[in-house]
Amino acid sequence: MTIRRADARDADLLWRILEPTIRAGETWALPRDWSKADALAYWNAPAHEVHVAEIGGEVRGTYFLRPAQLGPGDHVGNAGYMVRPDSWGLGLASAMCRHSIRRAAERGFRAVQFNFVVSTNVRAVELWQRLGFAIIGRSPGAYRHPTLGAVDALMMHRPITDADRTLGE
Ligand SMILES: CC(C)(COP(=O)(O)OP(=O)(O)OC[C@H]1O[C@@H](n2cnc3c(N)ncnc32)[C@H](O)[C@@H]1OP(=O)(O)O)[C@@H](O)C(=O)NCCC(=O)NCCS
Repeated sequence: MTIRRADARDADLLWRILEPTIRAGETWALPRDWSKADALAYWNAPAHEVHVAEIGGEVRGTYFLRPAQLGPGDHVGNAGYMVRPDSWGLGLASAMCRHSIRRAAERGFRAVQFNFVVSTNVRAVELWQRLGFAIIGRSPGAYRHPTLGAVDALMMHRPITDADRTLGE
């Protein structure tokens, strides 16, 4: 597996990752009818440092890292992750999260915070917990799940230290 910075040539493969998750509407608070252009504009926003994860030379996962806030809040990072459904369970999200923690340490972020983890996304919640993130907040009914109705959204947080610069794969 290789993780590298995304570039303009990745647009089509990025969309193949983003589209199923956006259309499913079960894990991200994004409009389900977004076009490719909408999705790529969001994912590649100027403040986002976008990486892609490849297996066998094929891009199958992506994450962005950005400051969670501006000005006096910009020492806390925020990240988002998506993996193409046919590549779930291969360790891509785990590897990307570790990579993003290393990048956060390199960039001097003192913590990484996830603002909106859908509580029914158990696979993600448990993965982030294994990687050191704690649930620090819950917004009741903040997400309209297409089959489960209004479900809670979680805020998750992990302190970042200089030692995270060498966090293993
Ligand atoms: C959540 C998501 C990012 C996980 O990506 P992934 O690459 O499959 O994650 P990993 O392969 O690193 O595995 C994560 C864990 O999921 C579990 N898992 C693996 N395969 C699974 C399967 N087929 N069914 C259920 N759980 C499974 C395992 O516990 C695994 O960890 P472990 O193998 O180290 O014990 C991915 O499912 C995804 O993109 N979902 C849609 C978007 C999303 O939810 N993003 C995160 C928002 S907070």
